[in-house]
Amino acid sequence: MCGIVGAIGANDFTPFLLAGLKTLEYRGYDSAGLAVLDASGALCRVRAKGRVSELQARVAQLGISGAVGIAHTRWATHGIPAEHNAHPHVSGGLAVVHNGIIENYEALRGQLQALGYVFSSDTDTETIAHLLRACLCEDATALGFAGPAPDLFTAVRRAVLFLQGAYALAVMREEEPDCLVVAREGSPLMLGLGERGHFAASDASALVSVTRRMIYLENGDVARLRGTGVELVDRQGQAVVREVVQSTLSADAVELGDYRHFMQKEIFEQPQALGNTLEMIGGAARLQPGIFGVEASEIFAQVEAVLILACGTSSYAGQVARYWIEAVAGLPCTVEIASEYRYRHSVPNPQQLVVVISQSGETADTLAALHHAKAQGHAYTLSICNVPESAMVRATRLRFITRAGPEIGVASTKAFTAQLAALFLLTLSLAKVQGRLSLETEQTFLAELRHLPVAVENVLALEPQIKRWSQRFASKQHALFLGRGHHYPIALEGALKLKEISYIHAEGYPAGELKHGPLALVDAQMPVIVVAPNDALLDKLKANMQEVHARGGELYVFADGGTGVVQSDGVNVLRLPEHYGLLSPVLHVVALQLLAYHVALVKGTDVDKPRNLAKSVTVE
Ligand code: G6P
Repeated sequence: MCGIVGAIGANDFTPFLLAGLKTLEYRGYDSAGLAVLDASGALCRVRAKGRVSELQARVAQLGISGAVGIAHTRWATHGIPAEHNAHPHVSGGLAVVHNGIIENYEALRGQLQALGYVFSSDTDTETIAHLLRACLCEDATALGFAGPAPDLFTAVRRAVLFLQGAYALAVMREEEPDCLVVAREGSPLMLGLGERGHFAASDASALVSVTRRMIYLENGDVARLRGTGVELVDRQGQAVVREVVQSTLSADAVELGDYRHFMQKEIFEQPQALGNTLEMIGGAARLQPGIFGVEASEIFAQVEAVLILACGTSSYAGQVARYWIEAVAGLPCTVEIASEYRYRHSVPNPQQLVVVISQSGETADTLAALHHAKAQGHAYTLSICNVPESAMVRATRLRFITRAGPEIGVASTKAFTAQLAALFLLTLSLAKVQGRLSLETEQTFLAELRHLPVAVENVLALEPQIKRWSQRFASKQHALFLGRGHHYPIALEGALKLKEISYIHAEGYPAGELKHGPLALVDAQMPVIVVAPNDALLDKLKANMQEVHARGGELYVFADGGTGVVQSDGVNVLRLPEHYGLLSPVLHVVALQLLAYHVALVKGTDVDKPRNLAKSVTVE
């Protein structure tokens, strides 16, 4: 949510800053801005409402360049998307970009206004700009300091003492053209150590074009970057040396290639993403619970129940896993939306394994829910995450890194199916350690997992048929998705995909619940999409489909072979290539992703950057 890039060195970094913003645009895209120190040493700021391309055009028009600069792409929280609210925010020759939320900004704003500072935006970020300026002048005494801070580095270290909330900051100042200062608390920020200069960004993908050597800042860290080096202090103000890691992120992974959209690319990357995620089981005859961490076997043997915490699509992965964990591992499992759990008075059970699921590993509510669980005495924690360096991964005792590769499309696709693969491995590992998995069952499931990439490939081949169906949705205002059992969460996910990218109002329901309300909505204008695997609930599901058909509803059925669901007037059937038992949700969801994608194309929406949304939700 929001993206930051910064650079300092000897070259003109304006093109790098703009390219970095383009890479980070999926994190927020309602306005963008940059500030550089130009050849005369003056601070030049350019901002534009809308996409980075708008900013790019303005920068080109103004012919701006500079060897020190900071840039930002925004997802509005405080203040509408507008040029005056776009970052950087400036105060007396210094400029700031910020990700996160300053919770006490109103109090700080009042304090600064009383000192005579005039605000020109509605943002929390502008408070930081004025606060820094105050720290650097005589006003520092009014803030409780003996005198003005001698430099920007000191000013930032002082200013952060006032800030409550989450932030990643990058700051520059006309009077100190040889440095950039950055700070991190809660929101991710990393440094890039390059040949031609030093860099900072909220996401490694913005840096790989210039360097692979990176330092991930810890919470509380403040760093000063110069063209020649970086210095770092921790929360206590002690100089620290942080590990330099070599990023393995490939530049291709964040490029579109021949695809029209990242979402399309990511849907089609699923066989590979699943193959990579499942690589650790390789050809092994037996499953090793150690893939979840060195303590996994010991912890899995102790646990009596599982509590899954997540948001959005990740929570639907958790809901599928609930069916698996209870059925295969015999452990009670609950799934909670992280933003509810963190504020609810729940009854902790220390024998519960707390599993947080997150593509990004930085979703604020999931992270806070994890901390809440730990504060309540939960010691057994596991993260399932797609970003190895993320805060969430670092905060749990056990971890499993899905290897889906960077996901850029706001609507999650390959990260979701990789999460399902990871959760199936978790189910088997729990069952195994708890003595509930026979050798034969283990081997059958392992073989099914290994075949999964091929099975997904076969579903992707259905694209032409799904594309034809999508034409019929363009005029619809609403849609219902039905599923039963472990396909009910897939109905929820199918509805979420359709609503987020096509803006058609869609709801997912357990099919048995239809007659308790949603059936009242069914008429010829209401497409009803049915997830119809060939499983034990098929006859019940068929009865639910009859309920729709009898009321003139148009059915679109994704049916496995052998279900006996046939095409007829008002019943459209798309045959899935194979029935896949417990792992069938992985196949069915791919078909629903393709449906949402093609409906959005027909509707002409911005598939990768749907209105009002953002990829990583780092605010509450
Ligand atoms: C946002 C994204 C969704 C994602 C959710 C949870 O809403 O648009 O695609 O499912 O956040 O994100 P996480 O990174 O925690 O999986």
